[in-house]
Amino acid sequence: MPGLFDEYRLKDVTLRNRIAVSPMCQYSAIDGMPNDWHLVHLGARAVGGAGLVSVEATGVTPAGRISPGCTGLWSDAHADAFGRIARFVKEHGAVPAIQIAHAGRKASAQRPWDGDAHLTPAQGGWEILGPSAEAFGGNLPIVPKAMTKADIAATSAAFAAAAGRALAAGFEWLELHFAHGYLAHSFFSPLSNHRTDEYGGSLVNRARFLTETLAAVRKVWPERLPLTARLSVEDYAPGGVTLDDAIELAKLLKAGGLDMIDVSMGFNVPDVSGIPWAPGFLAPASARLRRETGLPTSVGWLILDAEQADAIVREEQADVVMLAREMLRDPHWPYHAAVKLGRDTPHAVLPVQYARVARR
Ligand SMILES: Cc1cc2nc3c(=O)[nH]c(=O)nc-3n(C[C@H](O)[C@H](O)[C@H](O)COP(=O)(O)O)c2cc1C
Repeated sequence: MPGLFDEYRLKDVTLRNRIAVSPMCQYSAIDGMPNDWHLVHLGARAVGGAGLVSVEATGVTPAGRISPGCTGLWSDAHADAFGRIARFVKEHGAVPAIQIAHAGRKASAQRPWDGDAHLTPAQGGWEILGPSAEAFGGNLPIVPKAMTKADIAATSAAFAAAAGRALAAGFEWLELHFAHGYLAHSFFSPLSNHRTDEYGGSLVNRARFLTETLAAVRKVWPERLPLTARLSVEDYAPGGVTLDDAIELAKLLKAGGLDMIDVSMGFNVPDVSGIPWAPGFLAPASARLRRETGLPTSVGWLILDAEQADAIVREEQADVVMLAREMLRDPHWPYHAAVKLGRDTPHAVLPVQYARVARR
């Protein structure tokens, strides 16, 4: 069985190990433009030895951003600005990935450190969109405009245009953000989609925005490069998405040409109490989805130490582990994991500039 430090090949791309830096919003862009912060944040983690380094949720339209500080990919100038980042990440041995997103009814919010609530028009808030005219709730109380079919078609097209720009920027791994209560997840979940047309009702109808968006992206994103989708495989709320639903959705996406599912959870409704927080608690869901769909998976959430990450890969619960907060605490997590797992040459994970002098 392969372990954490074995290479992983998907399509024509090979990761040097199974450790991925999960997408993490930095709320540090202006007009969607990535800048030196993003270069250093992502670059440091490529230098740190991860196999895959993903850019945060990046808006396919200005209105699709979570906050005014989120990155975007709605113009060629954005693609140019990302080019430097993708190049640096690749030069340091990691595969550069980007997650493209539309925040739906959770868009137009303050940066978390400014309060995390919907912006008022006076604060620069913008019109938000959703499957139905129903607010997320909590500190995001603004009711979205229920999308027309023209809005839906335009948003799928914006995903495809962003995919083309991601390719032009040099990214080699593309993730569709279909999780965390953002637009796509809010279409799929019966808790947020009460449409009566072909985009609401049955599972296939609720999945339609996702399958159509995938189809539009698949025409632009080359077959040789991995195309993944992050799913919230459980809403952890009565009447919401269950793992069984997510498995059906994953099968539809597989039929549409998706290469991998990135297993995540939740955040489509506020104040959820049933999340079974524990180290690696999503790994069994990932294992089941992987087994029952035949799709490779990546999985995150509370993967905290090397042995646990290695076991998830060795036990075939996932092909890749997605680390977020641990990577913020320690960009050199892969080196420390290599030491902990007793690898012969842990310093091989370090860049040549460091390896000779930093080895223990
Ligand atoms: C600061 C921060 C920003 C995040 N932004 C994103 C994001 O842009 N897209 C996404 O899918 N998940 C995002 N997440 C969720 C992480 O990718 C990850 O799934 C989650 O933090 C669980 O992993 P962890 O326990 O290793 O932190 C974010 C998490 C953090 C801590």
